[in-house]
Amino acid sequence: MERKERVFSGVQPTGNLHLGNYLGAIKRFVNLQKEHDCLYCVVDLHAITVWQDPDVLAHNIREVAAAFIASGIDPKKQIIFNQSQVSGHAELAWIFNCVARMGWLNRMTQFKEKAGKHKENASVGLFAYPNLMAADILLYRATHVPVGEDQKQHLELARDIAQKFNNDFAKSIEKAGFEEGFFPLPEPLIAGPATRVMSLRDGSKKMSKSDPSVMSRITLTDSPDEIAKKVRKARTDPDALPSEKKGLEGRPEASNLVGIYAALSDRDTQDVLAEFGGAQFSTFKPALVDLAVEKLAPINSEMKKLMGEAGEIDAILNEGAQRAREIADPIMRKVKEVVGFIGA
Ligand code: AMP
Ligand code: TRP
Repeated sequence: MERKERVFSGVQPTGNLHLGNYLGAIKRFVNLQKEHDCLYCVVDLHAITVWQDPDVLAHNIREVAAAFIASGIDPKKQIIFNQSQVSGHAELAWIFNCVARMGWLNRMTQFKEKAGKHKENASVGLFAYPNLMAADILLYRATHVPVGEDQKQHLELARDIAQKFNNDFAKSIEKAGFEEGFFPLPEPLIAGPATRVMSLRDGSKKMSKSDPSVMSRITLTDSPDEIAKKVRKARTDPDALPSEKKGLEGRPEASNLVGIYAALSDRDTQDVLAEFGGAQFSTFKPALVDLAVEKLAPINSEMKKLMGEAGEIDAILNEGAQRAREIADPIMRKVKEVVGFIGA
């Protein structure tokens, strides 16, 4: 099996896709497709680690696929699919449940945050979630994984799992003809000015799908008026913008809005500050509204159009799953051989 660069990433169909998802992940997926073979997955198996209403889940799966396409991912060139259609994800996740150690998962901060004080009530799936994420990536022997900052620890775990599998089965892997280990150690791609977009209401909290305040996030389904209102009401401090990056230190809200502006306009933060240094938020916010509406409105309207054609989205996901299986199946067969399972 040849070794090539391959990009994999996933987004959960849990509703309220927001600017953090777009700038931290989806927009970067679009750029990566120019030079890489990519698989972009709607991770429905991950979504059900917390209960989802079945009708809403189906809608949300299509909505993430629509967001991928509306943002510019070409489903003819790249593979867009939903996770549950490729059984290898669940199969490899089980093997990884037996490779990863309890102690590793016990350190995962996302589980601690999501399970909160009621750990005993969390699903077993929520705890084992990072093993499934490692399986998503390694089922395709993917080498590069674009994600937001919050996924860094999960990516480290995926590397640990790949490494332990390669060690635990070293002899059998060699016998199967692999010289440098079976799984590559996937590289996280966490870069740019918006790897961690913060809540518009509180600069110390991540922008999140589950924040009870709708004013905390701009979603991909917001109208221009809603975008304008949310930016206008975004929390800030009373000072003017600095002209150097250093001046943003200790100013999380200012830093967040400037980062959003930079990411939306494909500029770096310093460049944006060179233009707006000395400006008050009363000048900067309207400029941010114009930019956000200019960039998001076309995505919003394309998503609406696609959501009116559910059959077409489903056809794209089915076709993507078929192509994904063509890559995954031979790898999964080899995994089974390496582990010592028998059968055709
Ligand atoms: P999720 O919605 O949890 O499936 O996240 C999908 C992608 O969006 C992942 O790559 C996350 O790291 C990224 N992401 C989620 N929230 C944010 C945020 N506030 N800022 C930047 N990236 C984010
Ligand atoms: N856990 C990721 C998130 O919540 C989503 C995800 C699942 C993912 N599988 C993945 C991201 C594989 C990258 C690669 O954001």
